[in-house]
Amino acid sequence: MDIPQAQRLQRIPPYPFREINALKNKMIDEGVEPIDFGIGDPDMPTPDFVIEALAEAAKDPSTHPYDETGFGLPEYKEAIARFAQRRFGVQVSPEGEIQSCIGSKEALVHIIWAYVDPSDVVLVPDPAYSVYKVQTTWCGGAAFPMPLRPENGFLPDLGAIPRSVARAAKLLFLNYPNNPTGAVAPLDYLAEAVEFCRRHEIILVNDCAYSEVAYDGLQPPSVLQVPGAKDVAIEMHSLSKTFNMTGWRVGWAMGGKPFVEALSRCKSNVDSGTFMAIQKAAIVALDRYEEWVPVMQGEYQARRDAFVAGLNSLGWKLEPPKATFYVWVPVPPGYNSARFATDLLEHCQVLAIPGAVYGEYGEGFVRFSLTIKGPDRQAQIAQAISAMRDNLKLTW
Ligand SMILES: Cc1ncc(COP(=O)(O)O)c(C=O)c1O
Repeated sequence: MDIPQAQRLQRIPPYPFREINALKNKMIDEGVEPIDFGIGDPDMPTPDFVIEALAEAAKDPSTHPYDETGFGLPEYKEAIARFAQRRFGVQVSPEGEIQSCIGSKEALVHIIWAYVDPSDVVLVPDPAYSVYKVQTTWCGGAAFPMPLRPENGFLPDLGAIPRSVARAAKLLFLNYPNNPTGAVAPLDYLAEAVEFCRRHEIILVNDCAYSEVAYDGLQPPSVLQVPGAKDVAIEMHSLSKTFNMTGWRVGWAMGGKPFVEALSRCKSNVDSGTFMAIQKAAIVALDRYEEWVPVMQGEYQARRDAFVAGLNSLGWKLEPPKATFYVWVPVPPGYNSARFATDLLEHCQVLAIPGAVYGEYGEGFVRFSLTIKGPDRQAQIAQAISAMRDNLKLTW
């Protein structure tokens, strides 16, 4: 049967990582196992204490039905409120300011569906995680790109957004710590963004999926630390990267009540919440955050330092990223991002993602994720660097 897909589905591209995975699997079928700096999916296991909490909770039949609360278990929302207080020094009320989510991707999708009508404008960083733009398009909205340029510390220049666009915009997305650039937004910048959104009556959606993956003692801020931010902002959080729980699908949204309410109304008509045993395990994870997070950070920091030092020994002049497990690397002279990623794969068996996948302003970069699969990550980093030294003709 050749039944055409809905036009709205035809308007959107395939999810980019599906194609990259296909390419990698093809190489593996041909007997070559690339060193995989591709998808940002933690390679280490979920901490034991979280797995044990899940096993315990799953034995309790009261966790097996639908979570009929809609917003998430009260005790999960209380654990989130405690975490927000300890980590960011902000108060969020479990009553109406927090929504349990099936990871943060789901929340990002549904906040767009909750607010964007056909022809509405959404301000979207470029380069960026694809969901903001694709879902805007899917809703019939228009994504207006905000370039992330190295000279601006990969922060959108809000002053460069034309007034007519700002006036028409309904949502503004920020994502710090940032995928793919690894940049962090200082609190001053978040305050500027809150003020911009207040002035133009725009909802600020801050994607905080990487808030805990940070180095050298840095604690990236929450937009809710800005006084009055709840008037304009909602922030998406996730246990995925913090606790190596990408497959578990658990996170939350927190912020201004009307935005949380709209998200909740949208979600309740689409999904039926996160398995309650997972929410219970998430409580244990958040409550033991202080003991776990330094372990996770230390591991990525060692990889980051080795990888950046290796690239710099080949002629790059990179500053190590302050956060995320991504290293956003300008391509050497004479390359574009696709050409460089292809040469890396074909000549060095190193898989990295061409920056152009993340948007027009990602051209000129490739993204390496430090979430390398396999037994000895440091050895693989060393092998990748030496393959690049031996097989690429780098001229600076
Ligand atoms: C910037 C960003 N936001 C959100 C997500 C979604 O993560 P999750 O749905 O697992 O919380 C990702 C995943 O890679 C991401 O890179």
